[in-house]
This record gives sequence, structure tokens and C-alpha cells, in this order.
Amino acid sequence: MVDISCGRISSPKGKSVRSYEIALYPGDGIGIDVTIEAAKTLHTAAERTGFCIETTEFDWGHRYWKKTGITAPEDFLSVLMGFDAVFLGAVGDPANLPDHITLAPLIRMRQQFDQYACVRPAKLLPGVDSPLAGRNSGEIDLVVVRENSEGEYADAGGILKTGTPDEVAAQTALHTRKGVERILRYGFELARKRRKNLAMATKSNAMKYGMVMWDRVLEEIQGDYPDVTAEKFHIDALCMHFVRCPERFDVVVASNLFGDILSDLGGAITGSLGLAPSANINPERRAPSLFEPVHGAAPDIAGQGIANPIAAIRSAAMMLDFLGETQAAEIIDSAVCSNLRDGRVRTPDLGGTSTTVEVGDDIAARIATQTGY
Ligand code: NAI
Ligand code: MG
Repeated sequence: MVDISCGRISSPKGKSVRSYEIALYPGDGIGIDVTIEAAKTLHTAAERTGFCIETTEFDWGHRYWKKTGITAPEDFLSVLMGFDAVFLGAVGDPANLPDHITLAPLIRMRQQFDQYACVRPAKLLPGVDSPLAGRNSGEIDLVVVRENSEGEYADAGGILKTGTPDEVAAQTALHTRKGVERILRYGFELARKRRKNLAMATKSNAMKYGMVMWDRVLEEIQGDYPDVTAEKFHIDALCMHFVRCPERFDVVVASNLFGDILSDLGGAITGSLGLAPSANINPERRAPSLFEPVHGAAPDIAGQGIANPIAAIRSAAMMLDFLGETQAAEIIDSAVCSNLRDGRVRTPDLGGTSTTVEVGDDIAARIATQTGY
């Protein structure tokens, strides 16, 4: 078992020269618990397949704020720049700090590192019941590709006359042609490797500038991908379709806010938010990419040791896949599926009674012993 309580931890070297330095940013609440389990599986998979992984943990978030009065050091991005990838648990401690303060470094990282493609698979895995009736494993298998660098989260706006009856708040969404085109092209390329269907979320019936431009860019570039069927849906109807007929979707491209909403819904219809992984990718690899579960810090269950670590573990697998360690990623995914199929060691969100650590240990043991690779 690998101890990742603090500091730098390495898997044993010697088997291979392939080596990766990973920054761990556990954050707050259940983010801390699930990061421990994700790191455990990372080290076990590295040992199993013969590469070296070195993790360095940072206590940014509420713990750092208690010591310093800020949630992350000013130069945190230059610190992270030296790593091959960043793994984040979740940030947010609403009882102690306003969310927009705790989440600010995360949003800054996504923007400054130009992690513009947020990839969030929603697949109904074996042994998991969807809250939707009559769905079997594999029948829901879609990926939300969320624009992650601009749009509604561009941080453009201001507040006047705060706290007075005349208070005014302006929050402007910024959509650039470059930003819209590159995320749509990313979605088309991904669709080409899958079932060749792309759906785009829009709301051009009411948001007649930004969303009309999204529609126009889709029309302009879809001819470059004649092998992919492209269609667009207003976001309200798309949410309804996710519930009524999720099986018809393959790759779903959406703006920052719409993609955020759709990916929580994707997690819910595939059994639990505690299963939903995500990757925040800089496709050009000019800065580290960020891997994190879709879920947040879940203060309602924090400190109870019952958070499902699988979303974090699957995010770690996405990280290895991105780093080129595809076999290790497959072994982790397969161990997760075998844990779920077996159904004996699972957290309460999936109807079980096991703890976060027990699920992490079970999956790590399966990674270490599975045959067939
Ligand atoms: P949340 O995702 O933390 O929780 C929503 C619901 O899902 C809760 O009932 C929670 O118990 C459950 N849940 C989430 N993850 C789970 C897991 N792994 N296992 C079992 N159940 C799980 O969203 P919420 O409550 O809106 O936000 C809580 C805090 O997290 C806030 O401070 C919010 O701003 C922050 N947040 C941070 C994110 C990030 O770091 N990327 C993303 C979303 C929210
Ligand atoms: Mg979200």
C-alpha cells in the first residue's frame, strides 16, 4: 500500500525510464479523501505496468487559507507549470469561505493553462443502476465536451452599490470565434473516434449574440467532417433529452455553463455523481492538463469517510491515458468495472455500506492482481 499522507511520494523506480511528476491538489471536503484513493490506484498501476510516478501534494484551499488568509499562493500557477499533470480532488468549503473565493484558483488554472477542452464521459457501467427505468450497462455512453476557458465563466462584470436596494450586478459571457471553433473541432475529432455523432447545445432563440455565433460556427465547419452527423439542441430541450433518451447521444459540445450543468446530469443518469470523471485538457500540451472528478467537495458528507472515490479514480485513469500510459489506464478502468460488477464493496451513494478507503483498497487490489493484460 502506498502512503500519500503528505510530501513527495514515488513509486519504485528501476523497471522503466518512463517517469511522471504529478501535482496533487486535494482541496477541501471529500476532495481530500478521494484524492488519497486516486493516488493509491495511480501508484499501484504504475508499479504493475512498470513506470515511475512521483506525486507532490499541495494543501491549497481551506487548509491553506486558515494558515495564510489566501487559498493558494500568488505564484501557484508557476509552481504547477513544472508538472506533467495536475490532479485535483475538489474545492469548496461554503460554511467557512464564499465559493467564488475558494474556486477562483481552479478557474484561473483552467483559463491560464488554456485547458479549454473539458471532457466528461457519462457511461452506464456494469453493476450500476441508472435512475432512469430500463437502461442496461453500456446503453448510455456519451461524452460532454465543455468549453472550459471562456463563455459564461469569463469573469467579466462587476457590482455597483453593493448591499443597497439599488445594487446592480453585471455578468457578461464572452464567446470568441476562436474559442467556439476550437472546442467544436475538438468535439468533431472525438466523435470521429466514437459513434460519429455530435450534438451542440445552444440557446440562440433567446441569447441572440453569443449563441447565434455558436450556431453559425457549427454551420461553417461541419462540412469539414462529412463523416460526422451534427445537430444542435436548445439547452432546455437537451436536458429533457438527456433524461428521456440519453442513448441517442455520443459527443455533446457545450459552452462553459451549459457543459457544467449537462455533466452533473450525465453523472446522475449514469448512477451517481460519485462515478463521473473529467479531464481539463490543453490539447497542444503547452501547459499541464488538469484531471478531477466532476463532483465538488460535498460538505453534506465530508468527514464521514463515505464519499465514492470512483469518479476520482477514473479521472486518474484519464490522466494516465493522456500521458500515454494507456495500458495502466485500461487496467484501472477494468478494476473499477470489476468492483462495480461484483457489487460487494460500494459506498452508500450506490446503495452499499463500504467506506471510501475500503472501495479504494478493493480497486487497488484488483489493479495489482488482475490478469489478462
Ligand atoms: P457536490 O458535487 O459537492 O455535491 C452534490 C451532491 O452529490 C451532494 O449531495 C453530495 O453528497 C453528492 N456527491 C458528490 N460527490 C459525491 C461522491 N464522490 N460520493 C457520494 N456522493 C457525492 O456539489 P455542491 O453540493 O453543489 O457543492 C459543494 C461544494 O463543492 C461547493 O463549495 C461548490 O462550490 C464546490 N464545487 C467544487 C467543484 C470543483 O472543485 N471542481 C465542482 C462543483 C462544486
Ligand atoms: Mg460542476
